[in-house]
Amino acid sequence: MEAPQAQSALEERVKAGKLPRHVGIIMDGNGRWAEARGKSRVEGHREGSESVREVTRACRRLGVKALTLYAFSLQNWGRPAEEVAALMDLLREFLEKERAEILDNAIRLNAVGELEKLPHLVREPLEKLRADSAHHREMVLTLALSYGGREELLAAAGALAQRAATGELDPARLKPSDFEAALWTRELPEVDLIIRTSGERRLSNFLLWQAAYAELYFTETLWPDFRTRELLEAISDYQSRERRFGLTSAQLKPRA
Ligand code: IPE
Ligand code: IPE
Ligand code: MG
Repeated sequence: MEAPQAQSALEERVKAGKLPRHVGIIMDGNGRWAEARGKSRVEGHREGSESVREVTRACRRLGVKALTLYAFSLQNWGRPAEEVAALMDLLREFLEKERAEILDNAIRLNAVGELEKLPHLVREPLEKLRADSAHHREMVLTLALSYGGREELLAAAGALAQRAATGELDPARLKPSDFEAALWTRELPEVDLIIRTSGERRLSNFLLWQAAYAELYFTETLWPDFRTRELLEAISDYQSRERRFGLTSAQLKPRA
């Protein structure tokens, strides 16, 4: 364990650097964390919600403007019914417990995904907090819930096709911004950094369009062990990279 002073020195350094405006996290490894301790998978998810709390707080403190957490994929509906039910209970608990802190810290709570598939016990506190925090501007916390990137792209394509059919939109003149405006993430800034925990190196259907130029950060750390320190390390790594967007390094350097 490193001394707390070392962590706060790192935090100061990260704060002084160029921060990602929008961080996305694929929170993976709860099950393996639990299994390694002889606990049930659900206990891993519970410990994982502590990481959600801590990482959200740290992002707010640093000044990250948007944080998107992949909490439950459309494909995750296929897990055993008891695990899905336990995850839904934990989500409700999170929304109830964190409500006051989210509101006190001017955080806007947002959600993307096929939310109509969620049970009432989650939708009700979710919609309430979403409405009550809608005017907040310090940070937007987006839960990707019942979310899939391909499904989001299909929904966008369908909406655009409908507008083309009515003559409102000319398919020959479709711009990236038209497509972006049809995505569930339309109100969010460009994703700068995507973190995935637990050693897997894949996107698993997370923000497929939006990931086009995101910096990717993979860590072996399992999500329940990913706390402030690990977040700071990820952002610090991001700050050491040069984002070229197809240009050359020389083009990016401001002329002397
Ligand atoms: C991530 O942890 C949480 C969700 C996908 C809901 P996992 O439950 O996928 O944990 P592992 O990958 O089995 O360890
Ligand atoms: C991705 O994790 C989804 C979430 C973190 C919510 P999974 O555990 O579902 O991904 P795969 O199955 O390993 O690709
Ligand atoms: Mg997993």
